[in-house]
Amino acid sequence: MSRTSRKREHVEHALTTGQSGAHGLEDVKFVHNCLPDIAYEQVDTHTTIGGLALSSPIVVNAMTGGASETYTINQSLGMLAHETGMALAVGSQMAAIKEPSLIETYRIVRREHPHGILFGNLGAEATPDMALRAVDMIEADALQIHLNVMQELIMPEGERDFSGALRRIEAIVTALEIPVIVKEVGFGMSREAAEKLVSCGVAAIDVGGRGGTNFAQIENMRRTQPFDILNEWGISTAVSLLEVTQLAGRVDVMATGGIRTGLDVARCLALGASCVGMAGAFLRYAVDGEMQKAIEYVKSLHEELTVIMTALGASSIASLQRVPLVVTGDTYHWAAQRGIN
Ligand code: FNR
Repeated sequence: MSRTSRKREHVEHALTTGQSGAHGLEDVKFVHNCLPDIAYEQVDTHTTIGGLALSSPIVVNAMTGGASETYTINQSLGMLAHETGMALAVGSQMAAIKEPSLIETYRIVRREHPHGILFGNLGAEATPDMALRAVDMIEADALQIHLNVMQELIMPEGERDFSGALRRIEAIVTALEIPVIVKEVGFGMSREAAEKLVSCGVAAIDVGGRGGTNFAQIENMRRTQPFDILNEWGISTAVSLLEVTQLAGRVDVMATGGIRTGLDVARCLALGASCVGMAGAFLRYAVDGEMQKAIEYVKSLHEELTVIMTALGASSIASLQRVPLVVTGDTYHWAAQRGIN
């Protein structure tokens, strides 16, 4: 199976399957504030991640590049990011590192979003030299390194040796002058893993929690003998945020995994994330070329977030991160057993 046809299959399966929905964010409740003492116009949703200023707290997260069809998808995503002021991550650039004729399928995002914040993307098998080339390729402002152990293990042609990843991440952090963001792809992240990443000097962690695009299901669709028992594997987005924000102040946190509404965005920010990533929710619009609808969707997300922040009396992301929350259900029980409060 070539890397290019795998990318086509991932897009196809992500559109038809693999939205697990169990992100746990419904366990996170806001405490209504009937005396917010602010005006809607006062709400400012600017934020930062790894020292980069973002005009929207929503980031178009890494999806694709590296096959001819993905050129148009990335072009649409670049247009969407440009029109709405969002930062955007490209999909893994390893395909273009190995085959330079594919560079344009990534570079198109820089052409569409010339002054925007762009994140490059590679896996933890990358070397510092590859990282430098990926950054150069799209003039990236930050580099994401994705961790996708369970996806690789279920993937028929996937990687089987995961040794040395931390050492390589540390070498990349040392080699680059821009922030490195380490992300999961939908299986979540624990406090212990986050500790190790912070000790390597990463600027930010994207928890990539369970509950949205489900790469166990997607890879199972590509297997003759599926490992269906693993379809619900992983740490939910809500729990991952509780785990990783234990390191608050030492690393910035981005929340990805099943985010679809302004309420999801608000809950993630209130749990301590600086911004949220959304991938699957934008894919259908990009594949269908429905960019006006996508722009409207992003506007409605911003409006929902601003309404919620107004109601809570939170005029900035920093004040939203301090509003009181009540955590219930499975998320509460997980936190209690793990000594998180
Ligand atoms: C992804 N994702 C991803 N992540 C990454 O770091 N590198 C990649 O190349 C890809 N490729 C990719 C392809 C497709 C088709 C999808 C839908 C997703 C994972 C993505 O960035 C994100 O972490 C997960 O999709 C979870 O977010 P959503 O989709 O639930 O918002």
